[in-house]
Amino acid sequence: EIPVITIDGPTASGKGTLAAQVAARLGWHQLDSGLLYRATALAALRQGVAADDEAALARVAAGLKLRFDGERVLLAGADGQADDVAAELRQEHVGSMASRIAAFGAVRAALEALQLGFRALPGLVADGRDMGTVIFPQAPLKLFLTASAAMRAERRHKQLISKGISANLADLRADLEARDERDRNRAVAPLKPAQDALLLDNSGLSIEDSVQQVLAWWAE
Ligand code: CDP
Repeated sequence: EIPVITIDGPTASGKGTLAAQVAARLGWHQLDSGLLYRATALAALRQGVAADDEAALARVAAGLKLRFDGERVLLAGADGQADDVAAELRQEHVGSMASRIAAFGAVRAALEALQLGFRALPGLVADGRDMGTVIFPQAPLKLFLTASAAMRAERRHKQLISKGISANLADLRADLEARDERDRNRAVAPLKPAQDALLLDNSGLSIEDSVQQVLAWWAE
């Protein structure tokens, strides 16, 4: 049995950073499941697929041609030509489209096999919204990460500023609260802790504190 650690939580709670650090310390693989939703959103935008066409969006998800090469994320179009979309995937309009299409059951189902395929020895750290509840319910360690909305907005703001992107703190907070609403209230795979998930509020913790907490739980 390949061990899996799942880390679920809301937007900008620090899941991705924590998952990457824990995977690196353990020497395990990592699945950033949000990236698959973002890639589906980007592919749909490029193909001109409407944000409300569930069947067409599910076809885009099922036909996703993604390859990972270090920091690069290669997305191939219909003509087979691949380009590095790592930076584009982080853009706000792609994240917002991802959050919309993630509400469709057919899209989520189309991405399930792809996500299960990331399981490989010696282990996997998977982060997202439904890693512990839907995709890897058997995982021996499941975490639900939270942080206050104010703290999350501030972190996202710093991230953008450091990349030279100007952003308004109040707008960012409103946007992440809207996204949380959508993730928590959708009919399929709503954002919530798995029954046996351990809760970690990292509002007052450094990244290293959080990493140490997870490694300690894993060692128990
Ligand atoms: O954390 P952030 O909102 O920036 O984005 P993300 O983790 O990259 O995920 C993008 C969107 O995909 C989220 O807003 C979620 O709605 C959706 N998602 C999901 O529904 N299930 C997952 N396992 C991962 C992401």
